[in-house]
Amino acid sequence: MELFNENNKLASVIHKDHSLLPVINRLGIKLGFGDKTIRNICEEKGIDLNFFVETINVFHYEAYFPEKRLLDFSVSMVIEYLLKTHKYYIEYLIPENDRLIELFLAANPAESAENDLVRRFYTKFKDEFVIHMNFEERVMFPYILELNGAILNPDLRDAFIKKYPGYSIEGYEKEHSNMDDKMDDLKNIIIKYLPPNYDQNRGNAFLFNLFMFDKDLKNHSRIEDHILIPKVKQLEKVLMSHE
Ligand SMILES: [Fe+2]
Ligand SMILES: [Fe+2]
Repeated sequence: MELFNENNKLASVIHKDHSLLPVINRLGIKLGFGDKTIRNICEEKGIDLNFFVETINVFHYEAYFPEKRLLDFSVSMVIEYLLKTHKYYIEYLIPENDRLIELFLAANPAESAENDLVRRFYTKFKDEFVIHMNFEERVMFPYILELNGAILNPDLRDAFIKKYPGYSIEGYEKEHSNMDDKMDDLKNIIIKYLPPNYDQNRGNAFLFNLFMFDKDLKNHSRIEDHILIPKVKQLEKVLMSHE
């Protein structure tokens, strides 16, 4: 698969892979950029060019993972991107899913046991997902940012070590596989098992949104597992060497 580079026109990138639309928004870009290249746009907006190119390539091409290059980015930049992604899920994707699932279920004239089943699976996924994001935002990301602060500013080190004795990200790492499994269960219940006596178009609209959600979420988890966590382990080693 072809990878994108800084000399590509962003408009042609979007024509090649429109699932990048929310990704470029999170990176700080809105549409209406004419024929400008990625480099032009990043320079204009003060966006880190390498981070932009690597992030869209990671999203576009699942097998592409330039872990070494991505490890060069600051944790605060990675966390800022991850937080914007959470915000996009909470403020847009989840409410959109809520809307589409209700449209889909309302098309089944009699409220049925099947509707309850779909709702139950959806709620299971959603609850786990929201708890997961809250944990990252309240516990894991603050720990990482404080660790980063202690590396950058030696005056903060003692307070950090006092607050987190035996500091290690391993205690905070949360698996993504449970969430992925619940998403797969939800898709499968509709694809494989639900009696198809509902409006097909509304069923498809809900499924399309789930597939898009799933792709975005897997990408988000890959960035956490393969960029953020290794980077944090590296920082922990640096701090340990100063103790
Ligand atoms: Fe996350
Ligand atoms: Fe996560």
